[in-house]
Amino acid sequence: MARLSFEGVTKRFDGVVAVDNLDLEVNDGELMVLLGPSGCGKTTALRMVAGLEDVTSGNIHIGDKVVTDVEPKDRDVAMVFQSYALYPHLTVGKNIEFPLRQRKVEKAERERLVVETAATLGLSALLDRRPGQLSGGQRQRVALARAIVRSPQAFLMDEPLSNLDATLRTQTRADIVTLQDRLGTTTLYVTHDQVEAMTMGDRIAVMSAGVLQQVAAPQEIYETPANVFVAGFIGSPGMNLLKGKLDPTVGARVVRIETGSVPVPARVASNRADDVVVGCRPEALSIDPEGTFGAKVSIVELLGSEVHVVCRVGETRIVVRQEVSRGRPNIGDEIMLRADPDGVHLFDAATEKRMAVSGL
Ligand SMILES: Nc1ncnc2c1ncn2[C@@H]1O[C@H](COP(=O)(O)OP(=O)(O)OP(=O)(O)O)[C@@H](O)[C@H]1O
Ligand SMILES: [Mg+2]
Repeated sequence: MARLSFEGVTKRFDGVVAVDNLDLEVNDGELMVLLGPSGCGKTTALRMVAGLEDVTSGNIHIGDKVVTDVEPKDRDVAMVFQSYALYPHLTVGKNIEFPLRQRKVEKAERERLVVETAATLGLSALLDRRPGQLSGGQRQRVALARAIVRSPQAFLMDEPLSNLDATLRTQTRADIVTLQDRLGTTTLYVTHDQVEAMTMGDRIAVMSAGVLQQVAAPQEIYETPANVFVAGFIGSPGMNLLKGKLDPTVGARVVRIETGSVPVPARVASNRADDVVVGCRPEALSIDPEGTFGAKVSIVELLGSEVHVVCRVGETRIVVRQEVSRGRPNIGDEIMLRADPDGVHLFDAATEKRMAVSGL
């Protein structure tokens, strides 16, 4: 087991900066999720750790060693790919055994490890089948078995669940967390799915366009997003973001927006009419005739116990989430909304960074 870190790592592909000066430390035994939209550089970052991609500048450490120039086979990491990458002509048993053969582990020990690992992942009955004779979920378990069979220093997983259906995804997600917890192997897990990140990560590193945006525990990322990007990306649906100006006449405790105002929880460290972005999670908004700003209903989505009311505030699309029992508006209705002041976030419109608010 080992700590794993990026130190000022940049990767350039002619013209494109795929990863931009990345500093990130994954603690010994930690499951760190690297999260971000398609093309933000997640796979590239992971491949640099595995040694499948050269770094343009900076260093990668595994344990006490700088591995930037170490051959992939000597890095002692195991990678699990989205595509499983199993050998189709080998049986499940031989696939799992493969990394042990590569490392010249002796036969009796190989057999013992394959049997033990297959049992851990519920594959004992499938050892003689070939990958073509397995379901997607079973193939993914074989890929996991192949990764854990030789106790590497770190696991690198690149969207390993994306080919599975929703039910199997949820199940396998829990299985990976349990397994990682039991083995205690340092893990860097890549996904673009924020629900997966929230449920699996000890910490989440959010990336956008090659740049690291925030690293923190899932709840902290949710409660105090560092900037507009993280606020909008995390949450399902993400945070509603509205442009406005701090109102200096009332001690900057109100943001004026296009259709009214949003109260701010505490005094903001500014008394000027700064341009801001005000953020409210869908569950922090409620429909209330006495509310403080107007909106027009464009879609009403019923999801069993709750309803998502999609509205327009001027040109901006926002979502209000509330329990079905509280009733629901009709499409086209002009409604008033109220924001729970404790659920209001403020960002500087120019830098898009979270603004400090101080209690009174
Ligand atoms: N071999 C390559 N040559 C040139 N550009 C590349 C290469 N590999 C990746 N890129 C570019 O680097 C950027 C980051 O790609 P990367 O595959 O790391 O993204 P990602 O976050 O894994 O995306 P996804 O969620 O779609 O898998 C993208 O702009 C991509 O087009
Ligand atoms: Mg990728």
